[in-house]
Amino acid sequence: MTRSTTVQINGERLWSELESLAKIGALPGGGVCRLAFSKEDKQGRDYVEQRMRDAGLEVRIDPIGNILGVRDGTGPDRRLVLTGSHIDTVGTGGKYDGSLGVLAGLEVLQTLNEHQVQTHHAVGVVAFVNEEGVRFMPDMMGSLYVSGQLGLDEIEPIEGIDGKTIKECLDEVAFSGEDDIPVDFIKSFIELHIEQGPVLLDKELDIGIVDRVQGILWEEVVLEGESNHAGVTPMHRRRDAGYVASSIAAYVRTLTEEIEGLRGTVGALSLFPNLINVIAKEATMTIDLRHAEKDRLIQARDLLHQKINALCEKEKVRPSIKPLADVDPVIFDAQCVESVEKAAEALHYSSMRMISGAGHDAQIMASKWPASMIFIPSQDGISHNINEYSTPEHVEAGANVLLHAILDKAGMSTL
Ligand code: GLV
Ligand code: MN
Ligand code: MN
Repeated sequence: MTRSTTVQINGERLWSELESLAKIGALPGGGVCRLAFSKEDKQGRDYVEQRMRDAGLEVRIDPIGNILGVRDGTGPDRRLVLTGSHIDTVGTGGKYDGSLGVLAGLEVLQTLNEHQVQTHHAVGVVAFVNEEGVRFMPDMMGSLYVSGQLGLDEIEPIEGIDGKTIKECLDEVAFSGEDDIPVDFIKSFIELHIEQGPVLLDKELDIGIVDRVQGILWEEVVLEGESNHAGVTPMHRRRDAGYVASSIAAYVRTLTEEIEGLRGTVGALSLFPNLINVIAKEATMTIDLRHAEKDRLIQARDLLHQKINALCEKEKVRPSIKPLADVDPVIFDAQCVESVEKAAEALHYSSMRMISGAGHDAQIMASKWPASMIFIPSQDGISHNINEYSTPEHVEAGANVLLHAILDKAGMSTL
């Protein structure tokens, strides 16, 4: 990795900010738990909001808690060149998934201040709410709201896995503001994120120039069978919801072997009454399917539904399937991708174009505005894990690429 002599972000400051934010919701063995709309999430958001104010940004908080900080441009076209990500985490999350993109965006804006760089366009950083979607579905909720794909009336009644609604959380933890993000004012969106996979690591590259994101289908399957005695009930008389659920989970893996490029996961599975000598009367499971091509994703879902129906019919179990999220694969804007590529080249970082396996706010923003992403390597290709880690050097490299991609989009008037 070669460092350039042009304007640079402050890598040490960014690293220390990542460490500070990670103390909020820190888990005993390392990592972070800041589930969306929780008290920890709110504490983290207060931290980010304060940092935005410290940097002299104009801060707006919208009715679901998305926070935007803006540094004005010198015009005449002052539309917003936007960056950002999310600070909510999964239950056993790391320090970098999401937080990097928000804090690096802030670092970029502080760097512009310190170097007295004036840009034609305004530059902004956003901390989206509920990107992870583990407590309240769908994921990427903040960017779905900003891009007009999900309304407040649809969001507020959503019930989380702990039975609370988003409206209750918004009221209880005082998340909401009144300043909707000025959508007509957005020009583009570029998000920095950790790769969360092993591609850059295996190829020993510094930067991923993300030009596509695969699509996501999430479903919840509830199976209703009948409880009975484990020792007495003959096998042919059973209506075993646990057996059907595990057969479905095994079939999800088989599907990934049959459809090239498909990723399939059963990440949550619970049985009722969940006792050693009682046949499960009910099973609830989640299914996460991902593919770069929409047609293949639909094919996978159709095959899965056929299989679920066949298994249920045989075991006399009643299935109900609820869609939880449906996000199309996305191809990013060519010019935004080029801005990232040019920045990586100018800074002499090794890089490659790549697809994102994970879902991101940038893929939602891309439905309305030109967008792209920057990845940095993840140690051991691990994420959604308390051991998630990226090196300080890669964090700094990613933020520098973000800085220069933003300068390319925002147009510098003085340096
Ligand atoms: C978000 O982290 C996702 O890809 O599930
Ligand atoms: Mn993320
Ligand atoms: Mn994540």
